[in-house]
Amino acid sequence: MKERVKPWTQKYAPKSIKELQGQDKAAADLKRFVLNFKNERKKAMFLHGPTGCGKTCSVYALADEMDLETVELNASDFRTGASIASVIGIASKQMSLFGKGKLILIDEVDGVSGTKDRGGIPEICRIIEDTSFPIVITANDPFDKKFSALRKKTALVEFGVLQSSDVFETLMKIADLENIDYEEDALRALSRRTGGDMRSAINDLQMLGSGGVLKCKDLDALSDRERVEEITTALTKIFKTTDPVIARKSFDTVSEDLNHCILWVDENLPKEYEKAADLARAYDYLSKANIMNRRIMRWQHWRFLTYVNDYISAGVAVSKDEKYRKMVDYVRTERPLKIYIANRKYQKRLAICEKIAEKTHSSKKEVVKSTYPYIKAMFKKGKDKAVLSKIADELVLDGDELEYLKR
Ligand SMILES: Nc1ncnc2c1ncn2[C@@H]1O[C@H](COP(=O)(O)OP(=O)(O)O)[C@@H](O)[C@H]1O
Ligand SMILES: [Mg+2]
Repeated sequence: MKERVKPWTQKYAPKSIKELQGQDKAAADLKRFVLNFKNERKKAMFLHGPTGCGKTCSVYALADEMDLETVELNASDFRTGASIASVIGIASKQMSLFGKGKLILIDEVDGVSGTKDRGGIPEICRIIEDTSFPIVITANDPFDKKFSALRKKTALVEFGVLQSSDVFETLMKIADLENIDYEEDALRALSRRTGGDMRSAINDLQMLGSGGVLKCKDLDALSDRERVEEITTALTKIFKTTDPVIARKSFDTVSEDLNHCILWVDENLPKEYEKAADLARAYDYLSKANIMNRRIMRWQHWRFLTYVNDYISAGVAVSKDEKYRKMVDYVRTERPLKIYIANRKYQKRLAICEKIAEKTHSSKKEVVKSTYPYIKAMFKKGKDKAVLSKIADELVLDGDELEYLKR
């Protein structure tokens, strides 16, 4: 069996509040609250901020540092009042088994129901009323309406978005401890791209760097993989829904341009849809999208872009009678790659023709047609090396171009 690797986010999670990066004020507030708990008016602290900025790990770091027992409730697992009460209600009154102090963490309350009948939030409020131990609550957005009662009973503490320099410093520490041979710019780029989400940044570092080397060029794989992920998510939405409203928004979060999206839909459509009638309707929409696309290119009618989007998302989605209950691995289309390679080749040829044109005082177009094929044939044959090298010198061909001509 494959050995499970410990995530570096756990391995290098801060062991004390001091090790927490970039959250000095919030961390100090938290520590003061726990130390002064007996005299605190509000018996719970509400930590809020974006994902991966250190809310959860700061609670554990503090518990470690102060030798407290943590009782954790991941609130989205317990969506009703009854189950929350059974875990936290008792913990909030009983002394810890070993006479240690306790810290109660109710993590990610965003997922808890706020409505009266299901009672998650009201139940948390009741527990706060008569807890004997400090309670820490975390959420992304504390200003959600459902938290209004909870906000009154808690001290709000903001965990700000981490600066990329904070992320960079942490990544560097980890990379050094893991003996990774890295380019600093690669770490810098990794720190910037997750927008302050330390968890993702560390995960990326582990994924790319655990082989012991991390160069800038390794990051390309990441953005490529990300794009593929984005687009397959979008495809799943379109292919698995018959609701045009849902389908229409699918490409909104995709960074690839719509031309590529068309190719992706085109490539994967026949893998997903099986009934001929479904396929016919869907391809009809795709062809309409292509027509719109031509008009955009030719006349620069950019407002047609929304039609292209609608045809390839909503149009394709409503083309089926009902969704297919199978799992398909959507694949990348090879076409853009082939076009790209062809373009590259073509460009090399053009560059050579440009040089010939300059020396022979003719137009590039003319050279492509008349002179170039002969030159190419000569180099390919490779006879009479002295002549060839003279030509190469005269045209100032570089190594790549020579290689290209010889193929
Ligand atoms: N401010 C920080 N300083 C050091 N490491 C951090 C910080 N924030 C996050 N991390 C790292 O990212 C991981 C996930 O952070 P976490 O506290 O779970 O984020 P969240 O704010 O979403 O609760 C932690 O285990 C830790 O390794
Ligand atoms: Mg968390």
